[in-house]
Amino acid sequence: MSNPTFIILLGAPGAGKGTQAQILKDKFGLAHISSGDLFRENVSKQTPLGKLAKSYMDKGELVPDDVTIQMVMERISRPDCEKGVVFDGFPRTAAQAKALDEALAKEQKKIGAVLLVKVRDEVLVERLTARWTCPNCGSVYNRLSSPPKVDNKCDKDGNDLIQRDDDKPETVKNRLNVYYKNTAPLIDFYRTAGLLVEINGELAIDQVQAEIVQTVERL
Ligand code: AP5
Ligand code: MG
Repeated sequence: MSNPTFIILLGAPGAGKGTQAQILKDKFGLAHISSGDLFRENVSKQTPLGKLAKSYMDKGELVPDDVTIQMVMERISRPDCEKGVVFDGFPRTAAQAKALDEALAKEQKKIGAVLLVKVRDEVLVERLTARWTCPNCGSVYNRLSSPPKVDNKCDKDGNDLIQRDDDKPETVKNRLNVYYKNTAPLIDFYRTAGLLVEINGELAIDQVQAEIVQTVERL
């Protein structure tokens, strides 16, 4: 793996971006930048950014590009990103992709690969409605595929698990529509740039992981 490595995990809501990003972070010592997690931190601290973001997130709409780009650019400038970054949920629009390319180019850096995690819609919906998260450490579980050892308690810190507000069926439907309209066009953009690697996201978590790790090790 070349150093530093910048990897983008692209995929619909529920594809497993967060799950796989956490594994890549632990295995390769990369910083994990999830725009969704950054927004949720702001929501829980009730910052002005959090209040703004919540009004979009609750509807399953994208937060406007200017604030999203500014937030992620600030995060990239922190020292833990020097070894490389796994981006999860960013970029999500053409403007965000352009801003990321420009920011990396300024520092003579570039994206190593864009991993498209492919999962059919009906599987996405099933996964999202069965997802439970630890509000304290961010660990993600699934009632069907990866339940916690003790019902409704986080394996790592014992906190009560919660469901994300935007995992309600009607919001999930809109998040999927927004993904196909705004984010799916990035697939061709990165394919043309020669960076796209397609990953079968419907396999078990450790099989998806093996495919992703192999790809990252070849970079
Ligand atoms: P964000 O937090 O990014 O949500 P998302 O893209 O909708 O993706 P999810 O987190 O729902 O899914 P995931 O792919 O991470 O799947 P996970 O690993 O959890 O964004 C939320 C909102 O914030 C957006 O709607 C928007 O409003 C705003 N936002 C964020 N970024 C933005 C941006 N760049 N621009 C503008 N607005 C932005 O897995 C899902 C479930 O499946 C879990 O239960 C997991 O355990 C399970 N699972 C995972 N892998 C497998 C597997 N292989 N087999 C079986 N189960 C699996
Ligand atoms: Mg996620």
